[in-house]
Amino acid sequence: MIFEALPMAPADPILGLTEAFNKDPNPNKINLSVGVYKDAAGKTPVFRSVKRAEERILQRETSKDYMPIQGAPDYARAVQALVLGADHPAVSEKRVATAHTPGGTGALRVAGDFIKHMLPGRTVWLSNPTWPNHPNVFKAAGLPIDTYPYFDAAANALDFDAMIAKLKTIPEGDVVVLHGCCHNPTGIDPTPEQWQIIGDILDARRLLPLIDFAYQGLGDGLEEDAAGVRALCRPGREMFICSSFSKNFGLYNERVGALTVVAANEQGAQIALSQLKACIRANYSNPPAHGAAIITTVLNDPDLRAEWEAEVAAMRDRINGMRTLFVDTLKAKGVQRDFSFLKQQRGMFSFSGLTKEQVETLRQKYAIYILGSGRINVAGMTPGNMDTLCDAIAAVLR
Ligand code: LMR
Repeated sequence: MIFEALPMAPADPILGLTEAFNKDPNPNKINLSVGVYKDAAGKTPVFRSVKRAEERILQRETSKDYMPIQGAPDYARAVQALVLGADHPAVSEKRVATAHTPGGTGALRVAGDFIKHMLPGRTVWLSNPTWPNHPNVFKAAGLPIDTYPYFDAAANALDFDAMIAKLKTIPEGDVVVLHGCCHNPTGIDPTPEQWQIIGDILDARRLLPLIDFAYQGLGDGLEEDAAGVRALCRPGREMFICSSFSKNFGLYNERVGALTVVAANEQGAQIALSQLKACIRANYSNPPAHGAAIITTVLNDPDLRAEWEAEVAAMRDRINGMRTLFVDTLKAKGVQRDFSFLKQQRGMFSFSGLTKEQVETLRQKYAIYILGSGRINVAGMTPGNMDTLCDAIAAVLR
């Protein structure tokens, strides 16, 4: 007997909650755990621009031949323009290389494998707190991890001084993971000025930034949300950027993302890409085609692109509207605690400040699912579930 003697793995803190949610018979259940967008009707629909692109792809597709190990070149170009902006000098200098990966998590893992094999001895530094899967991914790649301060719980704000003080002590050459926008789980990002200061310190300390960029467009806008990434993409400076298109294209189950390496020069980019290809080949060989074909089709067609940009804007506006409605509804129900900080935060997530016990009561008594850390997915709120949600929160706070 081999398998039955093994220990059971604990449920995933995010996806495990959705498994429990799906089994919950309560008709009023609300899932604010996993970062999946819901529209006002509580559905996660396929974007219209995506459906139209798929119709075109279906018409023109003639083969299911393998993709290149790093994916299609036109996808790489489209991703680079979206992330860095059209005509970024780093792209024209040919010092940027992009590999198409299965989701943003795939990009993180390929980056982790690359660091483990090619840059031995480096620690990966994560914000405290961070996405609970970050430690898993980098540890699975065999990398040591550590943390830098990020969140000031008392002020519900970025603890910028503590963050900077720590970055100044990180050993030269180590890897610093930053959230490009819509920080997961706090919803709090550095300002453009703070990004410049972070960039100066990373430069001075010769630290290697790895930007997890999973929510471009969900904060303040597609261009605005890229301010941090672009502030760090400086002449001669190197970085990794891990993009996910699960949220901003609604392509969760297509698993489509990208790992972009910005090198100091063209030769560096070519060498890095050759090593990324070696990591990918040993891992999943080459990427699944469909999601990237959708993204390339949408981004390169002016009409589809305009429709997609409007869909992203509508999603962003709905999330920000839910932030306001949530804060106002709690207040109207007589909740004394000030939740107005949620209005300043961006993206799908916020730290609610609810304790583990309150989170547990919300789940057991009211079938409301949020993460044990108190992280709530604002994009799961709707005008229809707001009263039930706020009544329950008011009750647990009483
Ligand atoms: C989340 O944080 O909920 C999302 O990034 C989805 C996931 O895979 O965890």
